[in-house]
Amino acid sequence: MQCACRVLQGGLVTIPEEYRGREQTYLKHQVLRKYLSRWGYKLASAGRHQHHRLWYVDCFAGPWKSRSARIDDTSVSIGLAVLNEVLEEWQGRGARVSAEAVFVEADPKSFDALKEHVDEHAGAVRAHVLPGEFGSNVEEIRRLLGDDAAFVFVDPTGWKGVGMRHIARLVDRPFRDVMINVMYEHINRFKAEERRTWLREQLCDFFGIEDNAQLRDLDEEALLRAYRNQLKTMSGLRYALELAVPHPTQDRTYFHLVAGGRHRDVVSLFRDVEAAVVGGEAAEVRESARRRKDEASSGQLGFDLGGAATEDLRYRRLRDDGLEAAREIVLEELGRGVQRFEDLWPHVLEGAHITRSNLGSLIKKMRDESLLIIEGMGPRERTIKDEHTLRL
Ligand SMILES: C[S@@+](CC[C@H](N)C(=O)[O-])C[C@H]1O[C@@H](n2cnc3c(N)ncnc32)[C@H](O)[C@@H]1O
Repeated sequence: MQCACRVLQGGLVTIPEEYRGREQTYLKHQVLRKYLSRWGYKLASAGRHQHHRLWYVDCFAGPWKSRSARIDDTSVSIGLAVLNEVLEEWQGRGARVSAEAVFVEADPKSFDALKEHVDEHAGAVRAHVLPGEFGSNVEEIRRLLGDDAAFVFVDPTGWKGVGMRHIARLVDRPFRDVMINVMYEHINRFKAEERRTWLREQLCDFFGIEDNAQLRDLDEEALLRAYRNQLKTMSGLRYALELAVPHPTQDRTYFHLVAGGRHRDVVSLFRDVEAAVVGGEAAEVRESARRRKDEASSGQLGFDLGGAATEDLRYRRLRDDGLEAAREIVLEELGRGVQRFEDLWPHVLEGAHITRSNLGSLIKKMRDESLLIIEGMGPRERTIKDEHTLRL
């Protein structure tokens, strides 16, 4: 059963009933679905020229707290569905493309449910279901992937067993994208742990560092930056960026999703997905979650006064701050010399919660304010392109 909410940005946000009370999971799954889908369609298109094999790797697969008999509300189901859609589309257009998936699950009961689901719903995807801990399966996964393109999803319940060294073994090759769920609240609570050695070791393993003392004074933003930098250093990834999935009914982050990859498209894709899900859908999802919570505590039905929220306020604040920061970075970068737009935007978007299109509009505004010059842009051109050159 679906709960159809109001029209949002020309579409209808439909929140399946099984996500009620855990709307943060709905938002996480929307990020996964949209990212994986665009990633898959793009990479599969190469199958027009030569055979191409894509992998979806779900390192902490579940099912976990699923409320649907068909476990539709899980990353397992989303991964298989998206890959099957991609195959149908591109094979239908004559491309030579195939897809495989790896699912790892440590809990024996969940593993049985996982195996049953995958056996029934794998469709055209060749699936490998591995029992046991992620860490002890890493070398087998690495062997299976070979040199193929892979999207690696790391969605643990905490940080235990999520060593950065394990992730690095899977993404230290070309054509590898990764998305990791980082539970900030959890890390923040224990980041300064001094006494319990086992806790300190787990935390260090998670960050890939020697001593957790270096995390002690870091706030939310700095902790996430430290994590992103370590991911890049240990995996050889060129880009790593994060987005914050908000708590459905409180003004705080529930968890962060960190994405990494080598190609600059990772950056623009992740920021587009952030704008659509965290900026767009989250407004509606959170508004209805808060209304339900109020109704439950007052015992009265609330009035829907219309005026659907079209943009989440937390995201709007982040984006506005990002635009301010971007203005400074652009001036600073161009102060060092002429730059092509394609060299500038990935770096700016990595640290700011704005889209490539937001940055293009900002740069045109800066040109109109005579702060910079755009070269190579014809009088009829409306948008900035990668090959355009910028200078002060
Ligand atoms: C948060 S849940 C995964 C949710 C799933 N990705 C989704 O979105 O539907 C984490 C899962 O990892 C499993 N797990 C915990 N520790 C693990 C480990 N070290 N290796 C593999 N799986 C583990 C848990 O049993 C649980 O099913």
